[in-house]
Amino acid sequence: MAQTDGGTIVAVASRSAERAAAFGDRFAIPTRYGDNEALAADPDVDVVYVATPQSRHEPDTLTMLEAGKHVLCEKPFALTARQGARMVAAARARGLFLMEAIWSRYLPAYRSLVHMIGEGRIGEPLLVEADFGFRRPVEPDHRLFDLALGGGALLDLGIYPIQLCSLVLGSPEHVVADGVVGVTGVDEVNGAVLRYGGGRLGVIKSAIRVGMSCTARVSGSEGWIDLPAFMHCPSFLTVTSGGGSERIEASYEGNGLRFEIEEVHRCLSEGLLESPTMPLDESLDLAATLDAIRAQLGVVYPGE
Ligand SMILES: NC(=O)c1ccc[n+]([C@@H]2O[C@H](COP(=O)([O-])OP(=O)(O)OC[C@H]3O[C@@H](n4cnc5c(N)ncnc54)[C@H](OP(=O)(O)O)[C@@H]3O)[C@@H](O)[C@H]2O)c1
Repeated sequence: MAQTDGGTIVAVASRSAERAAAFGDRFAIPTRYGDNEALAADPDVDVVYVATPQSRHEPDTLTMLEAGKHVLCEKPFALTARQGARMVAAARARGLFLMEAIWSRYLPAYRSLVHMIGEGRIGEPLLVEADFGFRRPVEPDHRLFDLALGGGALLDLGIYPIQLCSLVLGSPEHVVADGVVGVTGVDEVNGAVLRYGGGRLGVIKSAIRVGMSCTARVSGSEGWIDLPAFMHCPSFLTVTSGGGSERIEASYEGNGLRFEIEEVHRCLSEGLLESPTMPLDESLDLAATLDAIRAQLGVVYPGE
């Protein structure tokens, strides 16, 4: 926010007034609340960034929407497609802006990727291969290993390879997946093959117990585009077609999250209720793909 124009952080909320005050001091935020409801009732707040763990995305987003606030909600949009559908319905019923914070979409590299595919640099896109994984110790108290907080590799990291497949290939017709479920009940390593119409495939992996290349390749009928690590925020791309390779620079100043914030400001100033770059129907489709994979992994969240 400090690196963007067009908005001011007017308030912050935490479950603890002390932590809200500490955060407020650190970032010079004038108003601090010890609960979400107070933030939701603040008339000076126009739009709220929901950045709590995945299990809180639906309740926190609904609290803000019901109070008339626009919302930018962290990825993954929700624990399940059902939760996501309730969030979208609430935003649409109230005429409020809502967006899943897939920041990759707004980065220069992803904008270049979309542009190059659109102008036919690699012909017809046929295959997306992507993985995102690292090795962490098993920490049952950490949200990534806590089933109750929506832990697991798929929802936290797998969403990035899946959103790349969605960006390039659309909505899958068929999903096959398998993986390793750890002692805390979350998926620690997983892989999936997504089949799309027209003989196109997405092959994705994610992990919180195995280091992966964290790269991606989009292959087409006339060439391919490589996304180096980290595939969700690369600083360059390499396009190979017509017998040669070209490096496409896509570095940026500052924090990469600023681009999605600028998109929220743009949408609000133009009266858009969703971002054309990350539409709500696509967020619901991503959530449905996560559901389909997770069902095959055998991971069930409490209360589901
Ligand atoms: N876009 C990105 O690059 C990126 C990177 C990392 C994470 N994320 C996403 O951002 C979200 C938060 O991730 P994180 O790593 O920041 O998580 P986190 O540190 O565990 O949680 C963020 C904040 O949420 C509050 N919180 C924690 N547990 C909670 C609970 N059980 N109930 C209610 N509030 C709770 C805490 O604030 P208080 O204790 O002060 O209430 C905490 O500071 C996740 O959805 C994640 O997928 C996105």
